[in-house]
Parts: sequence; structure tokens; C-alpha cells
Amino acid sequence: MGIKKEADNKYIINIKNLNKQFIVDKQPIDILKNINLQIKKGEFITIVGHSGCGKSTLLKIMCGLVDYENGIVERNGHAVVGPGPRCGMVFQDHRLLPWLKIKDNVGFGLRDLPKAEREEKVEKHLEMVGLKGFENSYPKQLSGGMAQRAAIARGLANNPTILLLDEPFGALDALTRIQMQQEILRIHQAEGTTMVMVTHDIDEAIYLGDRIVVMSARPGEIKEIIKTDSIESKKRGSTGFAAYKKRIYNYFFEDAKDLMDNMEYAN
Ligand SMILES: Nc1ncnc2c1ncn2[C@@H]1O[C@H](COP(=O)(O)OP(=O)(O)O)[C@@H](O)[C@H]1O
Ligand SMILES: [Mg+2]
Repeated sequence: MGIKKEADNKYIINIKNLNKQFIVDKQPIDILKNINLQIKKGEFITIVGHSGCGKSTLLKIMCGLVDYENGIVERNGHAVVGPGPRCGMVFQDHRLLPWLKIKDNVGFGLRDLPKAEREEKVEKHLEMVGLKGFENSYPKQLSGGMAQRAAIARGLANNPTILLLDEPFGALDALTRIQMQQEILRIHQAEGTTMVMVTHDIDEAIYLGDRIVVMSARPGEIKEIIKTDSIESKKRGSTGFAAYKKRIYNYFFEDAKDLMDNMEYAN
């Protein structure tokens, strides 16, 4: 019994044979089909797939914001029955409360802590995302990238066992986006927080993911889970990177070969 429990608990997320339907016009529509995904502590998982294939729904199920018909969904070894403070979420729009200062937005989930402890945590996380000095600013005074940093700080301040990110950089300009990718990787390495990020940017998925979950169009099924085996192969422009990219493109485009401008590097 004890051994079994230990074996189950080695996963932060354990999803087995998950199916999800939504009722649309009184008809049940298959949204997610036979999803199997186990996520270990400290992993960075990225999920790519067409718009509407159920990526956000899958994240919301992990977080307990959406229920499911059948299958097993466990977080930290327990069936997910609703949202909990140990599961943070970051969305494409920052969802900061406009009437609160940045420090109060980041400390929002920490209101029950003694003031000094709360302030210390807020300070630490603002520093982590490079927003030291903006404690007393309001969200509208920040750029898009800075507001997303604040949203990430808020997500991490609660000390979540897992941080779920739903296209968090989707609304940012290309340069800020690359900068944010480097930042989130640095934070992941420093803090060891388990992270799951949905993105439709294949480069981003390869750059960030220890494993990349490739999903089919609706109903969303997992076509492949690609393990990226070395840091070197994840450098943009490397032959390894091009090979991953080609492998993923093949799921989405019939003319994947023509789309790859660096085919000569890809195996
Ligand atoms: N609450 C809901 N009720 C009915 N259909 C929904 C609901 N939420 C999402 N859907 C549908 O489920 C499918 C998957 O949505 P979503 O998970 O948001 O996709 P993705 O994030 O991959 O773009 C879409 O077709 C969407 O219209
Ligand atoms: Mg979505």
C-alpha cells in the first residue's frame, strides 16, 4: 500500500484516459480524447496544437476549473476536484486588478499572511521577475511585458506546486516575447517550479519544453510527446532544434518540408 502511494505521488500531474465533452447546441461534442500525461516535479512541459483543439480546457482540468466525464486526473497524488492555492495560472491577458498597486496584485493570494511575511514574499517575487521599483505602480502604468511579469510573480508568490501558463506571451511583441522566454526559463531553473505552458508557437515550445506535447485538431488527442534531450539541441538555429521543428511541423503541415528554410540541417 505504502509503496503504491509513493509511486503515484512521484507525479505532480497524473492524467489517465481522460475524455472531455462539451454540450454545444444540446449535442455532446468530443473535445479531448484519451489523454494520458504524467508530469514529474520540476519538469517544464509545453503543449502545442491548433486553435480549438482543447489546450486551454486541458489546463483548466489540471487546475480544477473545468470538470471531466471520465478518466483519472490527479494533482500531487489526489483526484482534482476543484481549484487549489497550490496551482497557479497565468493567462494571455495579465488579469491584474486595475485598482490595486502591483505589490497588492502580487500579494493578493497572500492576504492571510502576517504583513511582514507577505511584503517579503512580494518583494522577492517582484525582484525575481525584474519589477523591483514598480511596487507602487498601477497595472495601466506598465507595458504589456511588465504586466505579464507581474502576473507571473503573482502566480509564483503563492508557492504553487505547479504553474500553468496559457499562451502567456501571446499578446507580446516578438522581441519582448523572446526576452520573456529567457526569463521564464531562468526562473524555472532557479526555482524548480513545475510548469506547463500552452503555446501555438512551435519555436517557443521547443525552446522551453523538457517535453513537448503535440496535439491533434479537435477532438484533441496527444499525437506525440517529444523529449528534448539536450540544452544544445534546443538552441535556436542548431541542427537539433531544426530536427524537432521539422518533426512537429509534420503533424500540422503537409508541405512541412517546403516550410523549413533550414532543411539541410534537419535530419
Ligand atoms: N465552456 C464551454 N462550453 C462549450 N464549448 C466550449 C467551452 N469551452 C471551450 N469550448 C470549446 O472547446 C473547444 C476547445 O477549446 P479550448 O480548450 O479553448 O481550445 P484551445 O485552447 O486549444 O484553443 C473549442 O471548440 C471551444 O469552442
Ligand atoms: Mg486556448
